[in-house]
Amino acid sequence: MQRTEFFAKLWSQYIQVTPQAHSIQALINARGEDVINDHVAFRTFDIEGFDLDRASALLATIGYEAFDHYTFPDKHLRAKAYRVPDDSNAPKIFFSELIRSELDEDAQAIIREVTRGLERELTLTDLTGRYAFHRPTFDQYQALADVSEYAGWLATMGYQANHFTLNVNALQTLGSIEEVIELLLEHQYQLNEVGGRIKGTPDDLLVQASTIADQITFEFSDGIVSDIPSCFYEFAYRLADSSGALFQGFVPNNANAIFESTDRR
Ligand code: NI
Repeated sequence: MQRTEFFAKLWSQYIQVTPQAHSIQALINARGEDVINDHVAFRTFDIEGFDLDRASALLATIGYEAFDHYTFPDKHLRAKAYRVPDDSNAPKIFFSELIRSELDEDAQAIIREVTRGLERELTLTDLTGRYAFHRPTFDQYQALADVSEYAGWLATMGYQANHFTLNVNALQTLGSIEEVIELLLEHQYQLNEVGGRIKGTPDDLLVQASTIADQITFEFSDGIVSDIPSCFYEFAYRLADSSGALFQGFVPNNANAIFESTDRR
């Protein structure tokens, strides 16, 4: 799969479960603007063949190289950032993984059950929306999400873009995160308020905001049908560092709050 095809499939799957992203795109397009994405995010478990090492090898096949890494101790996560060295227009990729050994034994047992029999390796087809796991029961989902909202989300939504992120710097008619937020509120989008609507300060060189995830109907393995959080849209504005170049990395404190966009309401 080529990079262009990969992103076309990824976006198409994403808007199926995230209708708000499609309507936000329409809102931006109606202003005569193109939607350029700053980055796309994925989640995984630290299971051999599906972990960050495998993600790095897989993303290399479409031109990506890791350029930074992060940890989120209170969420039991680590993450890597990837970019295409010779194409600054390609969205960056933020890939996180859950460190299973840091969860309690009951949560680990549920993850083992959901991921049993995973003998192959993560593929690009998985990343564009193929559900690779065994669906949890409703009670397993609730118990897992009580320990880790991230794990509950991953067990149900699996591999697909967790979020796309609008590159606010690329907009002509909206010059800041504040102006983007004003537009979103005018159109009744719900925003992630964890730690305040705006994550980060100009000193961090990255200022972000995100919506609250949409909901989709999910059938659990015991036949219970319930709405669960799907995916959300993020907005990023980058500032220049002392060399004059726009900062390209991520800010753990911002990301830590943005993870909560998929928490159960
Ligand atoms: Ni993000």
